[in-house]
Amino acid sequence: MKKNLLRASVLFFVLLMIGTVGAEQSSIEQGEKLFNDNSLGGSTNDTSCATCHPNGKDLEKAGEKQNLTETINRCITGPLKGNKIDGRTVEMRSLKMYIQSLSKK
Ligand code: HEC
Repeated sequence: MKKNLLRASVLFFVLLMIGTVGAEQSSIEQGEKLFNDNSLGGSTNDTSCATCHPNGKDLEKAGEKQNLTETINRCITGPLKGNKIDGRTVEMRSLKMYIQSLSKK
């Protein structure tokens, strides 16, 4: 009986963890949304990535860059006058996925 209870609670926690991770999953769609979001990185100057790169224009090769996170952050702190976004966040991973998806079209 005790073993079954233990199994049930382990299963419960595993499912809970999967649920939590799933809710924070990065995606191309999320990246595209952020790309068009003029408040990205706390930006307040009414500029989004799409202002200069409409629909990802001219970024078709950027997905192959080694330092894509830094490149993106350069555009966030530069033109958007926003704050750097950590490379491990769902936001940055989504932005990168979106930009990488442009080269596969
Ligand atoms: C004011 C216009 C402007 C805005 C807004 C802007 N960029 Fe850029 N971006 C540029 C220019 C100009 C370059 C090319 C020069 C350079 O590499 O610094 C560039 C280069 C890039 C590159 C590298 C392209 C390559 O092939 O090397 C990436 C990736 C990029 N931008 C992403 C973004 C993202 C993501 C945002 C939104 C956070 C953004 N940019 C916002 C002007 C802009």
